[in-house]
Amino acid sequence: MNKSFSAGCNRSLSLAAVFITASISAFMSGPAISAPDAAQQPEQEVEVLHWWTAKGEIKAAEVLQGSLEQQHIGWKNFAIAGGGGESAMTVLKSRAVSGNPPSAAQLKGYDLQEWGMLGFLTNLDAVANTQGWDQLLPPVISQIMKYQGHYVAVPVNIHRVNWLWINPELLEKAGATVPDSLESFFAAAEKLKQANIVPVALGSDPWQEVTLFESVALAVLGPQGYRRAFVDLDPDMLSGEPMVDVFRQFERMRQYIDVKTKALEWSDASAMLVEGKAAMQFMGDWAKGEFSALGKAPGQEILCVPAPGTQGFFTYNIDSFAFFKHSDDLSIQAQETMAQTILTPAFQREFNLAKGSIPVRTDVDLTGFDTCSLASSTAFQLNQQNKTLVPSISQGLASTSYVQAAIFDVVTDFFHSKQADPEKAANQLARAVKSAR
Ligand code: GAL
Repeated sequence: MNKSFSAGCNRSLSLAAVFITASISAFMSGPAISAPDAAQQPEQEVEVLHWWTAKGEIKAAEVLQGSLEQQHIGWKNFAIAGGGGESAMTVLKSRAVSGNPPSAAQLKGYDLQEWGMLGFLTNLDAVANTQGWDQLLPPVISQIMKYQGHYVAVPVNIHRVNWLWINPELLEKAGATVPDSLESFFAAAEKLKQANIVPVALGSDPWQEVTLFESVALAVLGPQGYRRAFVDLDPDMLSGEPMVDVFRQFERMRQYIDVKTKALEWSDASAMLVEGKAAMQFMGDWAKGEFSALGKAPGQEILCVPAPGTQGFFTYNIDSFAFFKHSDDLSIQAQETMAQTILTPAFQREFNLAKGSIPVRTDVDLTGFDTCSLASSTAFQLNQQNKTLVPSISQGLASTSYVQAAIFDVVTDFFHSKQADPEKAANQLARAVKSAR
């Protein structure tokens, strides 16, 4: 596959790609950066790149900002809109290549390996040893945070991706019941459609389509099959009959989605549930922050159930921050304080309450967390014990950015094709993944 024509996903980070991106972005206008008032400028400051710009996400970012400011560390907000972080990554590449990276950036999953390999990231072993990260963090998480055995990032949260969000009033209006399997999902969707209610709200980004696809894949393949396909990249699993069935079920979903021709953020799709314009949304639990911000209690007024057919399973997305190499002592101290702060129990509690996720530390008191978070925590622990946790494809946790881009291309082409052929798509998937490895 020609990587430079990969339309679906733009996280690929080869050095060449970084330089090309840098020269292109020299022609683009820069991000809006709100500098603190010079008169009150604290001595230490961190410039933090992130893509938490939806209503609920902003609240979570403010928790981090507040925790640092309490410790007299100034916050220079480097927020780049766009769920999933694709635009943020493009801007980060240009800043890094021009020798002016921010202090900290929201980087996660396999991107950490790719940035680590390019030599940009600060080694966090000293903070990690002092705070005992190896003991505090579940191994599945600490392993993601390390490049060649050394910590290069600090995890903030655990998001569960395989959720279905439901407006119960609309379901009731259509005489439909809460689905727990693919078949009962299709039955509910059909009733909603008959009642002239949009069954599923879905935003327009490729990553949102892949979020839906990965939940269908988990339902059809189960955790072992999902892992064999998307983590081990087993060609037989990628092209075999079970994968053909994944595409078949995925295609069946389309008739229940009002596929958008104009840009629609994931948060706009969440708002459609709140406003009664659509009944259901497949989305990670960052959507909770949005529902709360719009005045609907998640777990009560907007229901959370595992994506149909994935009861008891857990697709994870782990947000983390990495730090870029800076030479002055004040910057380094500020970075270390930020890394250390993120893993304190108090921060973990407050931040995750706002973000909709659960803490990465297992010793944090969950009193006051809603029923969706409590269910997420139980499911995470159970899947951890059973070794059935699966990484999110759409969030860059399952594979390198090259393989991820190949999957995005096949899935989104299929989703938008007028003559979608499930068998052909499964074969294309195996071929595209093979050439991207
Ligand atoms: C993900 C990120 C989440 C959430 C989401 C939508 O990539 O990990 O924390 O912010 O994007 O913006």
